[in-house]
Amino acid sequence: MQVSAAIHRDFTIAAIDDRLYAAFIEHMGRAIYSGIYEPGHPQADEHGFRRDVADMVRDLNIPAIRYPGGNFVSAYNWEDGIGPKEDRPVRLDLAWRSKESNQVGINEFAVWAKDLGIDMMLAVNLGSRGIEEARNFMEYVNHPSGTEWSDLRRSHGVEQPYNVKMWCLGNEMDGPWQIGQKKASEYGQLASQTAKALRQMTPDAEMIVCGSSNDEMPTYPEWERQVLEECYENVDYISLHKYFGNSSRDTLNFFGKVEETGRYIQAIGGVIDFVKAKKRAKNDVYICFDEWNVWYHKREQDSANWRSWDWPEAPALLEEDYTFEDTLFIGCLLNEFIRRSDRVKIACIAQLVNVIAPIRAEADGPAWRQSIYWPYQMASLYGRGTALKVAVDGPTYDCAVASDVPYMDIAAVHDKAASAVTVFIVNRHLSEAADLRTTLTGFPDATIDFHKVIEGHDLMASNGPGAEVIAPTKGTGLAVADGVLGGSVAPLSYHVVRLK
Ligand code: AHR
Repeated sequence: MQVSAAIHRDFTIAAIDDRLYAAFIEHMGRAIYSGIYEPGHPQADEHGFRRDVADMVRDLNIPAIRYPGGNFVSAYNWEDGIGPKEDRPVRLDLAWRSKESNQVGINEFAVWAKDLGIDMMLAVNLGSRGIEEARNFMEYVNHPSGTEWSDLRRSHGVEQPYNVKMWCLGNEMDGPWQIGQKKASEYGQLASQTAKALRQMTPDAEMIVCGSSNDEMPTYPEWERQVLEECYENVDYISLHKYFGNSSRDTLNFFGKVEETGRYIQAIGGVIDFVKAKKRAKNDVYICFDEWNVWYHKREQDSANWRSWDWPEAPALLEEDYTFEDTLFIGCLLNEFIRRSDRVKIACIAQLVNVIAPIRAEADGPAWRQSIYWPYQMASLYGRGTALKVAVDGPTYDCAVASDVPYMDIAAVHDKAASAVTVFIVNRHLSEAADLRTTLTGFPDATIDFHKVIEGHDLMASNGPGAEVIAPTKGTGLAVADGVLGGSVAPLSYHVVRLK
């Protein structure tokens, strides 16, 4: 197939917020315990955190991480995780029918995040709790000294406040599965009042209010309208969540879910604009897509397991084995986030370790990178700067979830500081190579600095311990000549082309 594309230095979408490549980790399954934290593991550091896992996280250059949940947060008492470890209570985690030992709490997590240079994005419990506990938590975390909670933190050996700026006002509060599920207006009021109280303490804190749990919820997008009408002036972001699957084994339809996600973002952008106009508000609200990933391979089995098991501690849960097909999908999804970076300022891969995650840490064993680690890493490393519009002219297809889906999915980012343009290309065609011709305007001296590719695997192939077969290799077949990036792009292939 013939595909022509055009990239122009001045045709920009937005400055990409680095936090577009943020992550999420929850106290559930083996994400924390025997994921990032496993005292006694040969790789454990003096705090009990696994160095092998930390190294893989470090290589992702993650700017921010949402913690501690997720559904878990809606019945979590943050105070259970502070003070001497031996005094901390073991509690039932009502979200995942597990036992929570509380051996990791805010101070331990902060050590891990700081060591990796990752900013914390903290969620408060607005399910079983409310404004009072949220304000106490912020006082413990952000206030310097001289008050009950800040002095308690100091007595726990943390002299300086953390100055956390990103605060999530609960989690998926529309969901019937959520502890403390609420009606939209009720939640909107609570979120608004909580945000106001927290801002009294940390005026430059950014507030993230819960949107729908996904775009298939019966109350979507009316939920967003009602919630924002209650709290618009007091918040900065509204959260979107979406998980993807291909149980019907229809690859093109699976890939089309990226287009569906674009519509989701566009729809919420419209709701934001509507409420802003209706309220004559001055502030802007952006999108925080704070849970996204593929999640379906073991979903049914997992769901049956945790509903029936007898409150185990740190059980294996949602440990998906990601495929090459998922790699291509995530490449396209990240391209969509780049194309929508005028609306989406923060996005969090959900999650980071073991639970629906790009990194697997075997208990008492090795850590390894899943196939989806790579498109996430490539986007995080090379997708920073200004998103450029890419006009693509080539064949498209129709599928159940979307029409006119281009086979070639292309996004481009201009990093002015590095004098580089990175082009992310996915050929989603099942069998045809693309003869690609991309004109580059405004980059007269550009040549290929590097070209990485992931291709040639069975769609259902996946990685495993000691067998990271799905990984980028050196790309061939693309070249720049006379201001045109062109060449052959194999079917079902993912490319990162860095031009300098
Ligand atoms: O990431 C797993 C779960 O998915 C989270 O706890 C919840 O927010 C979502 O439903």
